[in-house]
Amino acid sequence: TDSKKELLLKAHEESLELFHHILLNTKIGEQALAYLTDRGLTREVIETFGIGFAPRERTMLHQYLIGKDYQPTLLKESGLFVERDNGELLDRFYNRIIFPIRNQQGKVVAFSGRIFEVDDHEDGPKYLNSPETYLFNKRNVLFNYDKARAAIRREKEVVLFEGFMDVIAAWQAGVQNGVASMGTSLTNEQIHMLDRVTDHVLIAYDSDNAGIEAAKRAADLLSEQTDFDIEILSFSEGMDPDDFIKENGAAAFKELLSHGRTTLFGFKMRYFRRSLNLANESERLGYIEKILTEMLTITSAVEREMYFKQLAAEFDVSLDSLKEQFQKYFYEQR
Ligand code: UTP
Ligand code: MN
Ligand code: MN
Ligand code: MN
Ligand code: MN
Repeated sequence: TDSKKELLLKAHEESLELFHHILLNTKIGEQALAYLTDRGLTREVIETFGIGFAPRERTMLHQYLIGKDYQPTLLKESGLFVERDNGELLDRFYNRIIFPIRNQQGKVVAFSGRIFEVDDHEDGPKYLNSPETYLFNKRNVLFNYDKARAAIRREKEVVLFEGFMDVIAAWQAGVQNGVASMGTSLTNEQIHMLDRVTDHVLIAYDSDNAGIEAAKRAADLLSEQTDFDIEILSFSEGMDPDDFIKENGAAAFKELLSHGRTTLFGFKMRYFRRSLNLANESERLGYIEKILTEMLTITSAVEREMYFKQLAAEFDVSLDSLKEQFQKYFYEQR
């Protein structure tokens, strides 16, 4: 019912306020706050995103919400707790930095908690997320979509990141049209959310193996929706956007955004050669043929000409032979 939804939203809002207060104003939040400050976050951006801290005791949030008269049945459904065999509810999030996840209306519907102590023997994932609940269907959520929407419209572009910290660091650097897929493959619902506000997507995933594979997959999924213009932002091997900003600063990041993009095709050319040894003649030939068939998707003759020239120069083959081979693929495909 609607009142159930209202109550669950209110429970999330009150949890957020508690976590946020503990991070900013209490002794037990100090270490977590120092960690975030160390990572370069300002107090202002911590407030903008409502970042918090969930302390060690696993009864804190439960007691707090029971004290505010929330019913146990509602709390069980909230995703904020885990249920023991004896039926007792324990706080799901403890000893973690808390990132609120908001729906399109800006209401908190879930949390993600990051482990941050180096000496911690706590197991579990780096980021622990709320489970799917009545409020939270992760297929329908992009991190920061609510706050980024205005900037996406203004910039006529969305920057698609992998992670929370990438979005937040970019925001602090003045790039506020960023959202995150939160490390999972883009869903049709998320693509539809993007489609409603823009037709330009700049993919800025991590430049590690997982990130490059994910960027390729995201680009393929977005390309299936015909009207997206897609570009790619890359970083030094192994780096993510947040690392880049921390190392090089906000101005360098903005410079990269304006002058450091690759076309989707340029990205694909680099992507396909990652698994090849181009010193090997047959792999070299296979690569050239692969690129030529991929070029069938390029509608701009000028852009094609650019890649013909790149291939010709790099592999010391004639433009004529490349074009002849391309024509052959072109007619075969029709
Ligand atoms: P990354 O592993 O790239 O982490 O995962 P990150 O964003 O760079 O985080 P920091 O900089 O180490 O703090 C990208 C995103 O995938 C999701 C999170 O949304 C994360 O931001 N993720 C990752 C999870 O949900 N759980 C995990 O255990 C790891
Ligand atoms: Mn356009
Ligand atoms: Mn990653
Ligand atoms: Mn990352
Ligand atoms: Mn990171």
